[in-house]
Amino acid sequence: MGHVIAFASPKGGVGKSTVAVATAAEFLARGRRVLLVDADPQRSAYAWSEAARAAGMPAPTTVAMGATMHQPGELDTLVGQFDVVLIDAPPSQAEILRSAILAADIAILPATPSGFDLWALADAIDVVRRAGAIKSQFQAAILVNRRDPRSKLDANVRGSLGEAGLPVLETMLSNLVAYRESVLMGQGPSTYAPDSKAGREVSSLVDEFEGLIENQESVRAIA
Ligand SMILES: Nc1ncnc2c1ncn2[C@@H]1O[C@H](COP(=O)(O)OP(=O)(O)OP(=O)(O)O)[C@@H](O)[C@H]1O
Ligand SMILES: [Mg+2]
Repeated sequence: MGHVIAFASPKGGVGKSTVAVATAAEFLARGRRVLLVDADPQRSAYAWSEAARAAGMPAPTTVAMGATMHQPGELDTLVGQFDVVLIDAPPSQAEILRSAILAADIAILPATPSGFDLWALADAIDVVRRAGAIKSQFQAAILVNRRDPRSKLDANVRGSLGEAGLPVLETMLSNLVAYRESVLMGQGPSTYAPDSKAGREVSSLVDEFEGLIENQESVRAIA
């Protein structure tokens, strides 16, 4: 049974699509069956999959879904055919964002170390809390993206994001050009430049996701 990870944050430009496709490429490289759900009308994830196919790179099965994806007969009918399902949620479309979170086993909220992102997170955390209350085995965490060691905010990024009330993932992603370049090539940093800093970050992030998935599997086995 596939595990559903939603990249969900109401703020635009925090890296939802970048991280969704980067981790899709890494899961594929690890031999996992990956379904990429493009829930953003901008269709960024879809475009990346097309670029991957055009470049002869491994590409996940990719489908477009909207505000009803959490309802019976929608995403749940596909999940069994995959190991991992990654949902790229849109910014500022509350209904779709909510649906993505409700459809997910794990919600990841990317945030950059900026005041605006921290304030915007409060809304998403509210949605995540409500989803968590009605779903068993639901996990949510903040992912720090676009770190810049020169920024003062960076020094205490974990502390300030952690105050928002959700766990912060160990892996943090830096602001690096490899994230932009690899997407254009229909790849992710860990397949495009495995020895680069970005490549190692994505690999470590997917290790962490696999840990979260294992946790859920052991809970399912006990239940
Ligand atoms: N770690 C990073 N290093 C460098 N550039 C990054 C990084 N993460 C994201 N970007 C760049 O930031 C921009 C926004 O990223 P992305 O489109 O993934 O965000 P998003 O949250 O999906 O945005 P939207 O809310 O509009 O869908 C893109 O140009 C992307 O290449
Ligand atoms: Mg996006």
